[in-house]
Amino acid sequence: MITHEYGKQPRVNGAQTEVVSTREALRAARRRLRSEVAVVMTMGALHDGHATLLRAARERAQSVIATIFVNPMQFGPTEDFAKYPRPLDADLELCRHEDVDLVFAPSTETMYPNGTPAVRVHPGPLGEILEGASRRGHFAGVLTVVLKLLHLTRPEVAFFGEKDFQQLALIRAMVVDMDLPVEIVGVPIAREPDGLARSSRNQYLSPADREVAGTLSRALMAGAEAGASGADAVLKTASDVLAAQPAVELDQLVLADASLRAFGPAVTGSARLLVAARVGGTRLIDNIAVEIG
Ligand code: PAJ
Repeated sequence: MITHEYGKQPRVNGAQTEVVSTREALRAARRRLRSEVAVVMTMGALHDGHATLLRAARERAQSVIATIFVNPMQFGPTEDFAKYPRPLDADLELCRHEDVDLVFAPSTETMYPNGTPAVRVHPGPLGEILEGASRRGHFAGVLTVVLKLLHLTRPEVAFFGEKDFQQLALIRAMVVDMDLPVEIVGVPIAREPDGLARSSRNQYLSPADREVAGTLSRALMAGAEAGASGADAVLKTASDVLAAQPAVELDQLVLADASLRAFGPAVTGSARLLVAARVGGTRLIDNIAVEIG
């Protein structure tokens, strides 16, 4: 039997997970948590990628808060906000299973009592490129809700996935630029057995599209293997794999330095290869670390 080092009794798969949805209940429950407090923010439809974050938080901190909120502010007018999956019971079951102490699952009215906030976080140039170029206003919505959830949950440490690599970079930048008193930890991408990055949006894929979707990670892995031959070879290798599968509608394939500030064939050393593509109408993203040269 695992015994927690702080003298806490091991729990029978989270029998004590508390679920709150209002600011008042959150404030009261938060006061009862012991430091160090970690937060994992999600939009629900939890899968093994989210579970990886929850496990990393559990390992690191005394108390774990999970937030579940489908944030309307980060969806564009033609995006999938209305049809985004919201299986709350299954999500709470996963939180209990991962030994989460406290779940905050607010309504839109609780999060945005005055409607869409007029005062919001401006992500700067890094928010305008890559995903930000395809999804206007997306990162202002993400950073605004992340900042609000940090204020509401007051964690010492917050965990975010490398799956959303640009989101992670922007959150790190916000924490430095705004002097937020929180440590940000990035967690590697959890993948399906065929390499597909786990995502709540994978459930939109038909069985045929699901097969095709594996091409994205295969392309990235092939690109990463070509790292020793230089940046051009990385991009060409990955784009050849993608081009060989006509059902993949490529949006972007980009090689960047690890901070997402330099791009293209001039990138050297530790780099990141990022892809965004549509498969059967579903937009998927993925990325991989690449050593150039
Ligand atoms: P969501 O897409 O639900 O993801 C929640 C967190 O899980 C993010 O940090 C994301 O990077 C991480 N994650 C998702 N799939 C992953 C995978 N396969 N491997 C590792 N980590 C993975 O990202 C958001 O929600 C929202 O933008 C949010 C930050 C909650 C703000 O609304």
